[in-house]
Amino acid sequence: MSITILGIESSCDDTSAAIIKDGILMSNVIAGQKVHEEYGGVVPELASRAHQQNIVPVVDTAIKRAGITKNDIDAIAFTRGPGLLGSLLVGTSFAKGLSLGLNIPLVDVNHLHGHVLSHFIRQQADDEVPEYPFLCLLISGGNSQIILVKNYNEMEVLGQTIDDAAGEAFDKCAKVMGLPYPGGPHIDRLAAQGDATRFKFSKPHIPGLDYSFSGLKTSFLYTLRDAKKTDPDFVEKNIADIAASLQRTIIEILLDKLRKAVDITGVKQVAIGGGVSANSGVRQAVADFCASRGIKAFIPERVFTTDNAAMVAIAGYYKYLDKQFCDLDEVPFARVSI
Ligand code: KG4
Repeated sequence: MSITILGIESSCDDTSAAIIKDGILMSNVIAGQKVHEEYGGVVPELASRAHQQNIVPVVDTAIKRAGITKNDIDAIAFTRGPGLLGSLLVGTSFAKGLSLGLNIPLVDVNHLHGHVLSHFIRQQADDEVPEYPFLCLLISGGNSQIILVKNYNEMEVLGQTIDDAAGEAFDKCAKVMGLPYPGGPHIDRLAAQGDATRFKFSKPHIPGLDYSFSGLKTSFLYTLRDAKKTDPDFVEKNIADIAASLQRTIIEILLDKLRKAVDITGVKQVAIGGGVSANSGVRQAVADFCASRGIKAFIPERVFTTDNAAMVAIAGYYKYLDKQFCDLDEVPFARVSI
């Protein structure tokens, strides 16, 4: 029997809907929100309002692009959290309404599980997917975690940030450099033209597999502030070298713990996910590291690194196969780990 899942994602500032049929991606529509740019960060109330405007056309387009009608959908998977509560409410309420209207089951998805399971989105039946167990380095604007993925619904967080996430380190340092929000992609672009060995920023000494990025942020801030005292144009003149040195440091911090986690667990496969996994330097460093150890690296297509409903639909597909449905009285949650 064929199974068609509609996925809905609205946890932050992207409204997205996707159709997955028997594990194969049929459509994935994402509407971003430009409204936040002038504020230097996501404004929750504006995000909720934009989701309200986007959700109907985005879902409608996803259904049409998949070449199906709403009556072909077997279940609706939606992001229940973590995320911005107002934003989550829009997707959750819409999913509930549609499930009632179509009389089909609801499946709730943990957004972080979605990022991890994005590696199971197949565009063709013979696309390669990871084998359990594998490690996933989940790096986004809100999370930096090393996860041991034992099954689609069994994940153990081996290490995580004790302060800022990797994406926050990119974004906050970029802000100090006068770059627009979110700064991660700008650092990535500039770093490609810079000398990554030129500046040294401090690295944390945290035991175990946990991360910390706040020390790097502080040392970055002071280095730039001191340099600007002698030369007010210091940042503008050296922007590519600063970006490249910052990116190198973040990558070294990330890889240091990933290496340890591979040694401890002995896994043979490593995946990356979350917005920061779009970073060219991170992608290359993880691929090189895995090649040097003879282990397989799963580097997602860039469209699946940031928030998207395809990952929600695939996570929902596996839950559907296990008949793990969600009641209509379940509510979204703002914070939770894996
Ligand atoms: O997963 P995501 O879309 O959502 C949140 O967790 O909010 O991640 C967004 C983060 C931002 O911090 C952004 O700067 C970062 O991902 N990011 C990047 C790149 N593209 C997005 N960081 C570095 N290099 C990139 N190319």
